[in-house]
Amino acid sequence: MKTHYLLFVCALIVGTYAKVPDYLQPFICKASDPQYEKCVWNSFEKSRPYLMKGIPEVSLPPMDPFILPLMTVNRTLNDVVSINAICRNIRVEGARNIVIDALKANPIKHLGEIHLTLPWSYMEMEYDVSGQLLAIPLQSKGFFKGNFSDIQFHVKGALDTYKRNGDEYFKVKKVSSKIVVGDGWIKLTSKNPELQFGADMISDFFNENPRQVMDTINPIFIDTSNELFRVVADQILANLKVSEWLPA
Ligand SMILES: *[C@@H]1O[C@H](CO)[C@@H](O)[C@H](O)[C@H]1NC(C)=O
Ligand SMILES: *[C@@H]1O[C@H](CO)[C@@H](O)[C@H](O)[C@H]1NC(C)=O
Repeated sequence: MKTHYLLFVCALIVGTYAKVPDYLQPFICKASDPQYEKCVWNSFEKSRPYLMKGIPEVSLPPMDPFILPLMTVNRTLNDVVSINAICRNIRVEGARNIVIDALKANPIKHLGEIHLTLPWSYMEMEYDVSGQLLAIPLQSKGFFKGNFSDIQFHVKGALDTYKRNGDEYFKVKKVSSKIVVGDGWIKLTSKNPELQFGADMISDFFNENPRQVMDTINPIFIDTSNELFRVVADQILANLKVSEWLPA
């Protein structure tokens, strides 16, 4: 695995909650519901405040702000694009404004597809990066902040079931996403002030051509978010039996 996450250490106590907590029961959609997609859409809208705050009973971390203690990315795309980064104390804000543009869900085949727009997302973290970004050598360590706007997500996923202690549970079978970021700016503050020129070179390069840079690193971004999505989703799904998530 090229991307590793240290997620919510100790937060995962699988199997503690055998049932969906009462306050979430109204958001569960029945497989037999003739308007299943509409139900899922409504549930998403109505459960938004809970999603943003997090739902500890099913190991769902808060989505806004979304906090990730550690993430490493080590990818070489080609001769001129490689990123080896350790990111700590990542904080991402903005998910509360997410808009669902389209949603498909098949409760029989366990397939789903969603189009989302995130009007903006503000991110802060400590970083330690090396590598190459087109003409710019990446060699910097410090504090990153950035604000990105008009982010389009198109995520498709499928679930598998497996048995654990005789009960059936869901896990992610596959997830694929397309993500297009409309615009953005970043600012890097070098930990060593004497090396600020290196940090400025990276942020100036990004800020002069945000679209070009984001398109260039898009495959890395997509792999990273697919992997993150899978880790978070599997963690959530492992909490409850299939019959609780998707009652007949
Ligand atoms: C990053 O990946 C390269 C090539 O796959 C490997 O040689 C290197 O040791 C990795 N670095 C880290 C810090 O994992
Ligand atoms: C990020 O951009 C959005 C939209 O332009 C703005 O509303 C928000 O205040 C910005 N956040 C920060 C921390 O700059």
